[in-house]
Amino acid sequence: MNNSNSYNDTVVRQFAIMTVVWGIVGMLVGVLIAAQLIWPQLNFDTAWLTYGRIRPLHTNAVIFAFGGSALFATSYYVVQRTCHVRLAFDRLAAFTFWGWQAVILAAAITLPLGITQSKEYAELEWPIDLLIAVVWVSYAVVFFATIGRRKVKHIYVANWFYAAFIITVAVLHIFNNLALPVSMFKSYSIYTGVVDGMMQWWYGHNAVGFFLTAGFLGMMYYFVPKQAGRPIYSYRLSVVHFWSLIAVYMWAGPHHLHYTSLPDWAQSLGMAFSIILLAPSWGGMINGMMTLSGAWHKLRSDPILKFMIVSLSFYGMSTFEGPMMSIKTVNALSHYTDWTIGHVHAGALGWVAMMTIGAIYSLLPRLYNKESMYSIRLIDIHFWTSTIGVVLYAVSMWIAGVTQGLMWRAVNDDGTLTYSFVEALKFTYPYYQLRLLGGVLFLGGMLIMAYNVWKTVSRESVIPVPVNQSA
Ligand code: HEM
Ligand code: HEM
Repeated sequence: MNNSNSYNDTVVRQFAIMTVVWGIVGMLVGVLIAAQLIWPQLNFDTAWLTYGRIRPLHTNAVIFAFGGSALFATSYYVVQRTCHVRLAFDRLAAFTFWGWQAVILAAAITLPLGITQSKEYAELEWPIDLLIAVVWVSYAVVFFATIGRRKVKHIYVANWFYAAFIITVAVLHIFNNLALPVSMFKSYSIYTGVVDGMMQWWYGHNAVGFFLTAGFLGMMYYFVPKQAGRPIYSYRLSVVHFWSLIAVYMWAGPHHLHYTSLPDWAQSLGMAFSIILLAPSWGGMINGMMTLSGAWHKLRSDPILKFMIVSLSFYGMSTFEGPMMSIKTVNALSHYTDWTIGHVHAGALGWVAMMTIGAIYSLLPRLYNKESMYSIRLIDIHFWTSTIGVVLYAVSMWIAGVTQGLMWRAVNDDGTLTYSFVEALKFTYPYYQLRLLGGVLFLGGMLIMAYNVWKTVSRESVIPVPVNQSA
């Protein structure tokens, strides 16, 4: 049953192509808001182009449209290959594709119109939330029914990560979005005050932990060994990694609410769990990296593998930085500054986007029965534009953020502030320009990818295969 003709690859192809499309759209909006922070007039005095409205458009597009499509595509691909069985329920799988695209379209219309629940990463209003819940439950049914029909006894670890991601996102989405609708486009959260804040960041942090981490770890556990042509370094470590990550992540949310009215003990608990989180995170990172031991030479000829290894390095880096930022005294400096934005994009561009790009390059030729991608050289150019782009982004925001924090807290002997807010802002401008340059480079790489994908899909490959492309 492991003949590829018997797999449902239609839905995988659809999601894979939309990953590239939504990646470009989401990052284009990212570049626009990065430019607006330098030149505010770029909103052209148009309500729906204002920063406050298109910033959530950016976050929703990159996380849920780009990241979400990548997770659907790869999980559907991986579960079929590792369970040696066709995806369950063709029509329900097709519904998850069209349903998810409908959610994205609804987000792209309502967010610029200013229709929002005002909860970060959960901005969409209740009718769209209901659609998300239906699509997500359908996704769970397709995924778990496929696992249930598997032809091999064993459930490969990548599927565990995908499974945890699917279950947890359903729970987070449903509970954080419980609201009382008062009209078609307006609802009020059932939670009030600090409980609302706690629910929101229980959701927000685990959206990072499960949407932006566990799902992508599933991707990593399948595509890194596949691309390296070697088994995962330690299967035992992957099991320890899985259970410890799942057990610890849920408790770390309060680090988003340091020095707020959330009870102090809850803040400290969040801090303690965040520091513990370093261990499982690094266990996973080391497991991925060490898979290449004895095969490091492959990095010289395979830019897809380079994407994956640099992605793992950023995963290690951001999961070291996160626990540090969760320490209350460090957070007193970093919170509200661009340091947070640097941390976010080291994770989002460095880890999430680079792993996604590597995985899509790896599976696309297989999906379209091509020998390899149209141009390996273009993948290499893409690798360098992305790497330079993300480094420029992260480094500029670190410098800007730390300096902002220090300038805001500096006081003179008589107790007055040493710097006005405008002075700190003025200092930040050159770094905003560097960030914009980084973003443009990263987006440029995505356009190169789109060209390469188009050429691969539309004609026979012309380049011999220097990298491991076996199915
Ligand atoms: C070309 C690439 C990108 C550019 C230029 C870009 C730019 C930006 C900018 C300017 C902001 C607002 C920062 C602020 O309010 O001070 C932002 C926020 C954000 N971006 Fe991006 N972005 C890019 C890619 C991505 C990707 C791929 C992801 C996720 C996979 C992502 C996730 C986020 C998140 C989660 C926030 C909100 C951060 C927070 O509230 O702390 N971005 N981005
Ligand atoms: C051990 C792992 C991690 C820990 C303990 C951690 C911790 C933190 C802390 C303390 C903050 C700042 C909260 C604040 O001051 O408001 C933060 C913000 C953030 N982190 Fe992480 N982080 C980790 C990994 C990651 C990864 C891998 C990603 C992305 C893939 C990520 C995405 C984000 C986002 C999007 C925010 C901004 C949330 C917001 O305010 O909108 N984090 N993280």
